[in-house]
Amino acid sequence: MLKRAAADDIDAIVAFESQVMNITLYGKPLDHAAAQSEIGTNEYYLRLDKGNVVATGALRRREDRSAYLSNIAVHPATRRQGIARVMIRHLLSLCDAAPYVDLAVHPDNHAARSLYVSLGFLPMQICENFFGDGEPRLIMQIARDTKSRGSDGVRIL
Ligand SMILES: CC(C)(COP(=O)(O)OP(=O)(O)OC[C@H]1O[C@@H](n2cnc3c(N)ncnc32)[C@H](O)[C@@H]1OP(=O)(O)O)[C@@H](O)C(=O)NCCC(=O)NCCS
Repeated sequence: MLKRAAADDIDAIVAFESQVMNITLYGKPLDHAAAQSEIGTNEYYLRLDKGNVVATGALRRREDRSAYLSNIAVHPATRRQGIARVMIRHLLSLCDAAPYVDLAVHPDNHAARSLYVSLGFLPMQICENFFGDGEPRLIMQIARDTKSRGSDGVRIL
């Protein structure tokens, strides 16, 4: 069902990205070089349907064993079917030992925020210009280890 992305998936990822849309809320679609970089630096997963990408999601592990989720997206034609929830549960299952897992979402991305809240993520901090695109991002986090929550300059909103 979910496949770890490899180099021969890059064209399909780029085609998918061009259909996700909403540059402000989700960011600029990945081109070939950016997709190659993403699958090289993340554990990047695809959900395929008849060879087409219908969803993506990625995980990056940090040295402190925490993890960062990114590239959560579902094709517009297959939204509200629980696909993103399955993808995120899959990613979370890969980092059971992480003291916390976080992600960044545009504060106005209400669909994504509802999704993350439904899975237990808490809003922690607003970061201006987080990706260098001039837009703010809300950092949301699940802390498995309660000592990690709200530490070192991170406040719960
Ligand atoms: C956000 C996104 C990934 C959700 O994908 P999805 O597969 O439709 O989400 P799911 O069907 O798994 O929804 C799970 C829950 O999330 C919430 N949710 C999802 N879409 C929602 C919407 N449009 N409005 C309100 N809540 C929504 C609901 O709580 C939903 O549960 P429910 O359907 O039982 O009410 C999808 O809309 C998308 O790809 N958006 C563009 C890319 C993007 O913004 N990604 C997030 C980057 S941080």
